[in-house]
Amino acid sequence: MSWTPSSWRDFPIKQQPHYDDKDLLKKVEDELTSYPPLIFAGEARNLQKDLAKVGRGEAFLLQGGDCAESFSSFNGKSIQNLFKLILQMSAVLTFSASKPVVKVGRIAGQFAKPRSSDFEMIDGVELPSYRGDIINDIDFTPEARTPNPKKLLRAYNQSAATLNLIRAFARGGLADLNEVHRWNLEFIKDNPLGKKYEQLSDKIDSAMRFMKACGVDSSNTPQLTQTVLYTSHEALLLNYEEALTRRDSITGDWYDCSAHMLWIGDRTRDLNEAHIEFFKGIKNPIGCKVGPSMGEDELIKLIEALNPNNIEGRLNLIVRMGVNKVQEYFPKLLKKVKAEGKNVVWSCDPMHGNVEKTSSGYKTRDFKNILSEVEQFFSIHQSEGTIAGGIHLEMTGDNVTECTGSQSSPITQDDLGSRYHTQCDPRLNADQALELAFMVSETLKKFR
Ligand code: PEP
Ligand code: CO
Repeated sequence: MSWTPSSWRDFPIKQQPHYDDKDLLKKVEDELTSYPPLIFAGEARNLQKDLAKVGRGEAFLLQGGDCAESFSSFNGKSIQNLFKLILQMSAVLTFSASKPVVKVGRIAGQFAKPRSSDFEMIDGVELPSYRGDIINDIDFTPEARTPNPKKLLRAYNQSAATLNLIRAFARGGLADLNEVHRWNLEFIKDNPLGKKYEQLSDKIDSAMRFMKACGVDSSNTPQLTQTVLYTSHEALLLNYEEALTRRDSITGDWYDCSAHMLWIGDRTRDLNEAHIEFFKGIKNPIGCKVGPSMGEDELIKLIEALNPNNIEGRLNLIVRMGVNKVQEYFPKLLKKVKAEGKNVVWSCDPMHGNVEKTSSGYKTRDFKNILSEVEQFFSIHQSEGTIAGGIHLEMTGDNVTECTGSQSSPITQDDLGSRYHTQCDPRLNADQALELAFMVSETLKKFR
């Protein structure tokens, strides 16, 4: 009834840190509230229009980036590598599907993490779990694990600098379709996948030359040289999100200006709790993770709570069942949503249902399982006559060894230790992500 950016505070809430210094927290929140917004409401409305196209099958959604951004590995090269990888994957997908790709990064704000347990025990010592760099530090010491409100300011500043670089890359020439060859990352250039990408780039080059000869070039068609990479993150730490929620001067509506799109995690989507309350009032396009525990009626209630006017492009359901569960749990949800005539954008997160732990203690995911969940997601939509709108991935443009398998990057469990850098969940490296994009593009071509 009476929504405000702070009305979530009257509801039960999960997965939050416990701050000892409440005065400092309040000071930090006030400071953040006085800072400039990171995005402009008009941009969020553009994303919503783009997502409406995805929902109708006129575009494809590619959402991806780190599981958790970190303060210590913050640098321009990694942002550029992820940006190039997203451009490469989009080129592959656009070329086969003949559809525009809506690009959304898990970036510039993806810091707070839900955890399966509040505490972690090592050698008989128990400390609070690591909850992401916006909350505490990953080191296993009492100081590091104590939540510190000042980290919200650092997360804001890092997000602002990241967004600044993304905007520069998007408009400053890196996204120019005449540069497709340059997007190939150094470490994949010479492997079979890099070569496959080179062949595709050659085709794009000839299409560009053809269009130029017909009079279509960058001087009259800026889409050829510019792109948009939208930002997104899980809006888990509502103190941060509230402080960046502003009233749009044009429409009078509230927007969470920490990112273009925000989503609710699978562990915090309880209908009567704080996250749902907060999301009801913000006008950004939003997402909600849908895992195996979601019931059919519960899902309809959730859709009605978050998108009461059934607006196209407003709500993205991000399905993350796991390779062995998607066939059992997803079709009934899909049928129900279809029968009720709800407008949603369906995307597939093949990462979060497929985490395994190796005997040496690494959290990993196998490429085969990731690929198979995506394939099943597409074929379920094919049988229902509904739209498989996109994919949601944890990936990096850096050359890491965190997920096993794939043809181009045959990483075994024994290799994981060599370049395992993630702060949280294992990410696809550039090879694996590009291979996945080629596979998805084949599927899209079939359904074109
Ligand atoms: C995530 O996307 O990083 C995440 C924690 O996902 P989920 O809420 O689906 O577990
Ligand atoms: Co994750």
